[in-house]
Amino acid sequence: MSRFKVFITRPIPKEIRAKIEAECEVDMWHTSAILPPIAERISPLDGLLTYGHELVTPEMIATAPNLKAISVMGVGYDHVHVEACRERGIAVGHTPGVLSDTTADMTMALLLAAARNIVPAYNHVQVSKQWKYYDPNILWGTDVHHSTLGIVGMGRIGHAVAKRARAFDMRVLYYKRERREDWEQELGVEYVTLENLLEASDFVTLHVPLTEETTHLIGKTELALMKKTAILVNIARGPVVDHYALHDALKDGQIAGAAVDVTEPEPINTDHPLLSLDNVIIAPHLGSATIQTRMKMATMAMENLLAGLKGEQLPYGVLQPNF
Ligand code: DGY
Repeated sequence: MSRFKVFITRPIPKEIRAKIEAECEVDMWHTSAILPPIAERISPLDGLLTYGHELVTPEMIATAPNLKAISVMGVGYDHVHVEACRERGIAVGHTPGVLSDTTADMTMALLLAAARNIVPAYNHVQVSKQWKYYDPNILWGTDVHHSTLGIVGMGRIGHAVAKRARAFDMRVLYYKRERREDWEQELGVEYVTLENLLEASDFVTLHVPLTEETTHLIGKTELALMKKTAILVNIARGPVVDHYALHDALKDGQIAGAAVDVTEPEPINTDHPLLSLDNVIIAPHLGSATIQTRMKMATMAMENLLAGLKGEQLPYGVLQPNF
């Protein structure tokens, strides 16, 4: 019997890959260098495991008549044209849940780093070697404890951020399409409009999925509502924030700082004006990047892929045509 043909877009842990290889003929992009367009590889495939936000378009899907399953190693699947998969009966899976705590940890890391000047401190001591004597008057930050946090997009990750914020004695406001009164009871978080959240928060963190509705959700108008002392953290998707508006707001002192784990585009262009500012921290999309979490994500992605190839119910499905 011929084995399923599968392409994996980035190296995944070898023990997980071995489980896929036991049942499939596997082609994998072996380096972390830029992947050539997967359009060139998709036509003979039965299954695709995407690990790195590679675009999967309706045109690409149309060239792959045998494609049965697309397994996204990540929770966000905005790069896969799910509607085209639905029309073709292709199963789509992702890896929700396991990365919520890890991404929430990273949210707090970015928030704390921006609030407490961790990057300038590192530059001062280790890069420019300017620390000649103890100067109590440098690099004053702003308090995180007892401040107000606004969470935009209160899903699993937002909930995990709220738990951490409450441990810092922060007041937590949230904005979400559907109110979660159970979480208000559980965590003491307060439901507000987006406008109220932006006006009242010292820190704003973004956790919405990327959709038409959330593209440039935070632009000039929204940034103008924020406090001049506020810090914005984006760990959702780059296009949720209008980067040119963010640049202007940071440059003009409309807000005090930003820390972003995602950019538009990714990677951000090396001549992007945001890179010239010292009140922004930019991380290269590290939200779920820990050894433990990436292992769990790889395991789930493998389970989804194998189930989809065999026409079985995906354990973590976005779209399950046969069920
Ligand atoms: C996700 O899970 O969506 C992260 O962005 C990593 O891909």
